[in-house]
Amino acid sequence: MSLHLLHSSAEVQRVLEPIRAAGQIIGLVPTMGALHAGHGRLMDAARSECGYVVTSIFVNPIQFNRGDDYDRYPRTLATDVAFCAGRGVDAIFAPTAEEMYPRPQSTFVEVDRLTDHLCGRFRPGHFRGVATVVLKLLNLVQPGRAYFGEKDAQQLAVIRRMVSDLNVAVTIVEVPTVREPDGLALSSRNQHLSVEERRLAPVLIQALRAGQSLISSGITDADAIKREAARAFEKHPPVRVEYLEIVDPDEMQPVANVTHAVRIVGAVWIGKTRLIDNLLCLPGSLSR
Ligand code: PAJ
Repeated sequence: MSLHLLHSSAEVQRVLEPIRAAGQIIGLVPTMGALHAGHGRLMDAARSECGYVVTSIFVNPIQFNRGDDYDRYPRTLATDVAFCAGRGVDAIFAPTAEEMYPRPQSTFVEVDRLTDHLCGRFRPGHFRGVATVVLKLLNLVQPGRAYFGEKDAQQLAVIRRMVSDLNVAVTIVEVPTVREPDGLALSSRNQHLSVEERRLAPVLIQALRAGQSLISSGITDADAIKREAARAFEKHPPVRVEYLEIVDPDEMQPVANVTHAVRIVGAVWIGKTRLIDNLLCLPGSLSR
């Protein structure tokens, strides 16, 4: 079947209406493009579970709190289309900003509490922009299943909560993080790293893994774990730590003691590039 490239919501309705009428399950993979193997894994999961797979490609202006980050975000539609074709995607929805926001948006989705810390604290307005555009995409495409990466754990928690709180009829599917051989999580922003910065970048996952192994060895004091894990950064002064935190995986609130499953989450700046990553950790008492 040929790949449909759709730019307007009218085209989305025209193409998807008969698919829905035929009772096929639609899988949606929302992205901002500059596609890589991490996105590919979401598409593969959707392909194996759904009759019809839609990938959206939209660099969403309302989730960027810095204009330069929005301007600098890579836009590679031609190669993205080829990438989707190679993964067996049925349709791409690539709207313009004018199509998604024909007039200034007045209605926003705010997910309280889960956005108080981590990226929510350092990128004001970011999750309101993400939740709003994801709800718009869910309403336009009306998928049975929508796929999101564990890589952006706070985003995933926010979307799960929005869907539950607002009774959106979709199943949210979590897909594990795809990494480079040295552990660096794939990200569209990695291409901004210089050769020297790229060499330093795995320090984030090294710190998270150090924290994870302390947690599984039975240490429960979160401050002690964070202090010890942060030592990984001491050898690399050009890496600036934005946050390194241990949180409850659903509520995204920092914990003082690790008594149940937690996520160790971090954000660092290397030069002008911001990287985030996280790992799910089981306390020693549960992992044995
Ligand atoms: P984007 O950064 O393009 O990511 C699209 C999806 O791919 C997200 O669900 C993200 O978690 C997932 N992803 C990114 N890198 C990954 C990796 N290394 N392994 C596995 N999955 C990975 O996240 C967004 O776009 C936007 O905020 C969006 C949800 C599309 C709303 O605008």
